[in-house]
Amino acid sequence: MPPAEAGPRRQEGPRGVANPTEVSARSVEVEGRERRPGGPGALVVKAAVLHEYRQPLVIEEVEVLPPRAGEVLVRFVASGVCHSDLTRIQGERPSSLPIILGHEGAGIVEEVGPGVTTVKPGDHVVLSWIYGCGQCEYCTVGRPNLCRVGIKMLTGGTFPDGSTRFRIGDQPVHHMVVSSFGEMGVVPEACAIPVPAEVPLERAVVVGCGVMTGVGAVMNTARVHVGATVAVVGAGGVGLNVVQGAVLAGARQIIAVDILDAKLEMARRFGATHGINGRRENVVEAVRDLTGGLGVDYAFEVLGRPETIRQAYDMVKPGGMAVVVGISPADSEVALPAMQIPFQEKMLVGSFYGGARPRVDIPRLIDLYRTGRLKLDELVTRTYRPEQINQALHDLEAGELARGVVVY
Ligand code: APR
Ligand code: ZN
Ligand code: ZN
Repeated sequence: MPPAEAGPRRQEGPRGVANPTEVSARSVEVEGRERRPGGPGALVVKAAVLHEYRQPLVIEEVEVLPPRAGEVLVRFVASGVCHSDLTRIQGERPSSLPIILGHEGAGIVEEVGPGVTTVKPGDHVVLSWIYGCGQCEYCTVGRPNLCRVGIKMLTGGTFPDGSTRFRIGDQPVHHMVVSSFGEMGVVPEACAIPVPAEVPLERAVVVGCGVMTGVGAVMNTARVHVGATVAVVGAGGVGLNVVQGAVLAGARQIIAVDILDAKLEMARRFGATHGINGRRENVVEAVRDLTGGLGVDYAFEVLGRPETIRQAYDMVKPGGMAVVVGISPADSEVALPAMQIPFQEKMLVGSFYGGARPRVDIPRLIDLYRTGRLKLDELVTRTYRPEQINQALHDLEAGELARGVVVY
């Protein structure tokens, strides 16, 4: 916990003016109090804000507006640091600035807006970074990860109506749906998935992105079959979860590919049967050598680069499936051997957020952890205090982490 004076507080003076008598959010009574956005009763919290690409995040006071109808105010307990946060900081996927990043979050419901029925104050929640509107064609057929309203929210950095719930002075601050790089955030109800209170949130947090994306790619997208052969290109926070998803699915051979031996070692601890260092070996040949010359049934690209997508395609055997999980730079393209596409009947599919149906999949994954079949403790390499967020991002970039987690 941060020192008491650094904690969130209700704003009592004029907007933007710090209140000298600060109180922790836990003790704040909000029931029945009339509040208007930006006025008395709004919250002031510490958050790490991205103002400019390729610059460190700035830790500063941000006003959090009250949750509106169908929205939930969450006090974060933990936030994972994911490669997509780095990509956003580097401007490879442009965002509206300023923005509070962090999309792997877990916390406790502080307050709910009108009409919220699935969570109440005090509930423990893991956050989904995809919002399913519940009404559209995708949501209706059970593919809420493709909900266009949710995608717009993710890429636009605002709620569906274009508004935000964060502000610095008069300037709106954008969301990355969850925005867990701050002490509190407001999310749509559909993004706050209740989890049992006995599960430690600083572990459960990694289910919100890395585990859902990796295990989901195996279970939901590829539906890897028992006895399959699998290759995973990129054994980072998400790739290690593809590895453990493949173990859960009963794959007989799981080949991890990375350029760092330390990551290959981690992959073995998560159940990889083989490791290939892409710096030293021709990975496609090495995978074919390990699989009787034909290649694997399933290859997962968990990195986000055209070259490694091509590698994944090439290391799949005829009739197999290459699954692209990694998110490449916005303007990049992949070249494929066109003639092989029909001849070899390989499938090339994308997997976005592990094909998540958050309300079903997040509790399932938490249950697999509780029953000892999913590794979460081992994923969290290091924890950080909120003011160490830039260090956590640096360590991620340096390849030192499976997952780094900020604990509030
Ligand atoms: N070949 C193989 N592995 C590589 C290569 C390469 N050419 N270059 C880097 N790697 C490895 C890194 O060493 C690291 O272990 O890829 C891994 C990437 O892991 P992280 O940085 O931890 O990234 P992660 O959070 O897992 O995200 C990976 O998934 O969800 C998406 O947006 C996310 O596109 C990103 C991807
Ligand atoms: Zn992520
Ligand atoms: Zn929808």
